[in-house]
Amino acid sequence: MRNFISVNDVNNISELIQKAFEHKKSPYSNKSLGTNKTLGLIFLNPSLRTRLSTQKAAQNLGMNVIVMNMDKDGWALETQDGIVMNQNTVEHIKEAAAVMGQYCDIIGVRSFPKLIDKEEDYSGDFFKKFVKYSNVPIVSLESSTLHPLQSFADVLTIEETKTKPRPKVVLTWAPHIKALPQAVPNSFAQWMNAYDVEFVITHPKGYELSKEFSGKASIEYNQDAALNGADYVYVKNWSSFEDYGKVLSMDSHWMMTNEKLKLTNNAKVMHCLPVRRGIELADEILDGPNSLVIPEAANRVWAAQAVLSEILKNNF
Ligand code: CP
Repeated sequence: MRNFISVNDVNNISELIQKAFEHKKSPYSNKSLGTNKTLGLIFLNPSLRTRLSTQKAAQNLGMNVIVMNMDKDGWALETQDGIVMNQNTVEHIKEAAAVMGQYCDIIGVRSFPKLIDKEEDYSGDFFKKFVKYSNVPIVSLESSTLHPLQSFADVLTIEETKTKPRPKVVLTWAPHIKALPQAVPNSFAQWMNAYDVEFVITHPKGYELSKEFSGKASIEYNQDAALNGADYVYVKNWSSFEDYGKVLSMDSHWMMTNEKLKLTNNAKVMHCLPVRRGIELADEILDGPNSLVIPEAANRVWAAQAVLSEILKNNF
């Protein structure tokens, strides 16, 4: 593995899962792997879990870590080619990424979509340019369309808690007050399609994800029908892909509650966090025995450690 931008960068998911569990069992056994190697973490948007878990994972491997909040502390980046930079952008990604590549051996980047221009957001142009101009391995800390470190941690969480070989996993849309990206549900769908589960997506009409990511998942518009017999319920809001970036519904009936949980096979409930209590998920679930949100966040460390470890082993 050189870059980690989507599930397609993983040669063998089962092997990577086992490696993550080895790191979880013995966090410091590869402490010399990252000696004298520097990880740069570049954030164009806020983060709690991704920042701390990736930093901790790198430290467990003996790496140095540099964190930069580009949105607050960096120059405004230009990404278009051939542009006359006479507006607000100060530095082109060509120079910025190339310079970061001089300081860092691996770079993690977070860049959310603007949710205005679908073609621009879904082009992957920002990450492609970071890969090209930095000339070092790139790890996605969440792109416009995908959040692979989150999805890998989600897979680890299902793998270590499942009680049957092929559980039923339901990704359900939940209400929210703001327009959110499709990155987490796209990515979760992509990883579920590459993993061995019965996978169903439920959402109001108009919230269909890109087929590129939803793939072979069953789509069920009736949430109650989708939840029937579920072993895992993954709760997440996203804005419309079709009517790009729009909030089409705020129907509070889509919030997961204990009443809805009765339809399931005593399902475990997952969410990537941060979560809006009382809007996306009821307190009774987040504070109850079926919630996996904290172990799921904890697994972010082992997902990141397995990925960084593979990149270190294969590129240096
Ligand atoms: N789930 C997740 O990526 O959390 P942060 O946005 O806090 O990093």
